[in-house]
Amino acid sequence: MTGKLMIAGGRPLRGTITISGAKNSAVALIPAAILAESTVVLDNLPQISDVGILAEILGELGASVEREGDSMRIHPQSLKSIPMPNGNVKKLRASYYLMGALLGRFGEATIGLPGGCNFEPRPIDQHIKGFEALGAEVSNENGAIHIRAKALRGAKIYLDMVSVGATINIMLAASRAKGITLIENAAKEPEIIDVATLLNSMGAKIKGAGTETIRIEGVDAMQGCRHSIIPDRIQAGSYMIAAAATRGDVLVDNVIPKHLEALTAKLQEMGVHIYEMDESIRVVGQPEYESIDVKALVYPGFATDLQSPMTSLLTQVKGTSILTDYVYNNRFKHVPELVRMGARIKVEGRSAVIEGGLLQSAKVKATDLRAGASLFIAALTVPTGETEITGTEYIYRGYENLVPNLRNLGAEVWEEYE
Ligand code: EPU
Repeated sequence: MTGKLMIAGGRPLRGTITISGAKNSAVALIPAAILAESTVVLDNLPQISDVGILAEILGELGASVEREGDSMRIHPQSLKSIPMPNGNVKKLRASYYLMGALLGRFGEATIGLPGGCNFEPRPIDQHIKGFEALGAEVSNENGAIHIRAKALRGAKIYLDMVSVGATINIMLAASRAKGITLIENAAKEPEIIDVATLLNSMGAKIKGAGTETIRIEGVDAMQGCRHSIIPDRIQAGSYMIAAAATRGDVLVDNVIPKHLEALTAKLQEMGVHIYEMDESIRVVGQPEYESIDVKALVYPGFATDLQSPMTSLLTQVKGTSILTDYVYNNRFKHVPELVRMGARIKVEGRSAVIEGGLLQSAKVKATDLRAGASLFIAALTVPTGETEITGTEYIYRGYENLVPNLRNLGAEVWEEYE
């Protein structure tokens, strides 16, 4: 049961936060394990609800899954491609990775159209185009995607737009296709490299992950291995933004600073003091910041997933800032909620125009994961009163141990149940 998140803001965050493994890697690596014919162990998994749901789905498909701390042992030996038109697959977006993984291993998959954070329509046409190019027949049967291939064969696939999900899904299926697949205009996010690293440890032959052309030479069989997941750059970035917004001093530990370069550069441009170490970043907030313009782009640009948290920080800046999202057309569901808190923000096309000023406490609702992050960051800045955030089930999909973590940093945060 999830309750309301209550925040009495106005306290600078201070201390150390240790970042967990990356959600958007974990949700791809767990389905990827299906491609192996022996046990895969994943370490450094985040303790978030999407991970638990994926483990249940693998169980429903016949795999045995054991969890111990932040590790998961997946025994996919007795797993089958059972049709999953409804149920758990509808609870998260990343269930679409079961399509590529089951197609690669069994030549067949039936998976209900994914749920998850639907802040705007999120089509999967590029995933389907990729499966078809590999020789699969794809049909939509009452809201479930049915994919079948007699034999998968390598192909050259040019993505119409840079898509993280389509790049990974095609890598999964192509790992078991006959011959060579080239993905052109591929996504370059660190999570793509993490998935390729796991697949290569399982016996795949993937080159170029992290560049715009990925070459996959199909293999006949893949085996188990052990893999440790990369740190969550979006979770890390959210705490960096929260530290700056509350004028705090936080050491964000267990990160790869290079993955956060675009954010670090923008925070420095505003006047936040940042100290980078090998595996940690210290963020020291300042009393005054400069207004800035931010453009959310595909990696290595500024991450769209940090666009909503950044909106909250930019309310704490004198003057007008403009934040434009070039990845999604309309990812601004957090804006009306921030306006309830007194923010002066106007959405114009794919941009939010933000006038700085103090926020006030209010009752607000998270409608998706990162909108939720923007709300808890905004609430932490409010000098008096208590902010009540509902819709916390979205927030807990991406922020492990949020309440204890914020408390450790000195925030006054608690949950209330009705
Ligand atoms: N797109 C299409 N057709 C497709 C695929 C994508 O039109 O077939 C469009 C999307 O609508 C969007 C853009 O292309 O406008 C990029 O979408 P992408 O496929 O890259 O997104 P995704 O794979 O569905 C992942 C993350 C998102 C993150 C995006 C962009 C996971 C599970 N999700 O989604 O994370 O916003 O990449 O970086 O990896 C989050 O963590 O809060 C989150 C939403």
